Amino acid sequence: MRKITDDVIYIGVDDLEIDLFESQYRVPQGVSYNSYLILDAKVAIMDTADFRKGEEWKANLRKALGDRTPDYLVVHHLEPDHSSMIAEVLEKYPDVQVVTGVRSIKMLQQFFDTPDIAGRCITMKEGDVLDLGTHKLHFYAAPMVHWPEVMVSFDEYEGALYSADGFGKFGALSECGFYSSEDPDWSEEARRYYINIVGKYGGPVQNLLKKAATLPIKSIRPLHGPIINEDLGKYITLYDTWSSYVPESKGIMIAVASIYGGTMQAAEKLKELLESKGAENVFIRDLCRTDISRNVSDAFRYEKLVLAASSYDNGVFTPMHNFLHLLQIKCYTGRTVGIIENGSWAPSAARVMNEMLCQMSNITIAEPTVTIRSRMKSTDYPALEQLAVALLQE
Ligand code: FEO
Repeated sequence: MRKITDDVIYIGVDDLEIDLFESQYRVPQGVSYNSYLILDAKVAIMDTADFRKGEEWKANLRKALGDRTPDYLVVHHLEPDHSSMIAEVLEKYPDVQVVTGVRSIKMLQQFFDTPDIAGRCITMKEGDVLDLGTHKLHFYAAPMVHWPEVMVSFDEYEGALYSADGFGKFGALSECGFYSSEDPDWSEEARRYYINIVGKYGGPVQNLLKKAATLPIKSIRPLHGPIINEDLGKYITLYDTWSSYVPESKGIMIAVASIYGGTMQAAEKLKELLESKGAENVFIRDLCRTDISRNVSDAFRYEKLVLAASSYDNGVFTPMHNFLHLLQIKCYTGRTVGIIENGSWAPSAARVMNEMLCQMSNITIAEPTVTIRSRMKSTDYPALEQLAVALLQE
């Protein structure tokens, strides 16, 4: 719990024990479930928390409320990492009303058995205002950032945007800092969070950024990660880049799925050739031994990508298949990609990688596709050399 302005108290909680966020993402520095309490003429709770930290969140709420009683529970997003405590709030405070978007009503009924939960909701449409006294919350729809019912709100008194998952990041606040100014590595885990969780919805994020550009924002208060009070343009520019699917950094990522090391040797040779021709920031990522969510976010980050994989079961080695599947569903687009395959008796990896790339939009394949038979030999060098040249020309 922490007072952030005269009337607003942070009542969110860190989760350092969680093994996998959304049951799939490793979060070595944990995650925070952010929640805020606005104490004005009316009292508003701004979102809740995951059930995993429900007791701690309730204790924060009780302490922050003191002798006040909440009038409103504002629900910007119904994903359970933020909404798990709604039923308990409604039960404990029988007069509290849920303030949320129209599209939340059906989901509230799906998630909670609370009698007449819809009757306890005030629904907000685009531009509607919740008047708390001094603080006036203006609501804006942000569908698919990251679920369809998402709304954000803007407190005109403080210039604070309650941005739901937008501008969120992995990492507990105790580990990364309470304010983004204390978190020099903000973009690393924010990018991994954004690309993997919200990345499919670049268009909706662009729509939200257009709305945000019309508001005099001084503070961004997301549902995960530090509050952003300084240098807002830097963070908004990163979001604009990520949601536009354009590369953020120069560089070539060579993603390798190698079973016995033969494919890796070819990838290392290509790296050497690229560097000998002046390419900067060429790096190899072993898909078998590194975190796939980081590999996906780095594929989006850099300009160019090379896929190097063994053949497997008349297809492509599974770590590469999984990687490409994720790139496809996160809408990887507009990049130049090189392909190296390996096969000892019937090479099949390039065919499948090509097919999967063809399901993405605006991908240019750098020629030639290089086929290694079991182990790279000096006779393979010319093709690797041609691929290096093509990658640098694209
Ligand atoms: Fe942090 Fe989409 O929930």
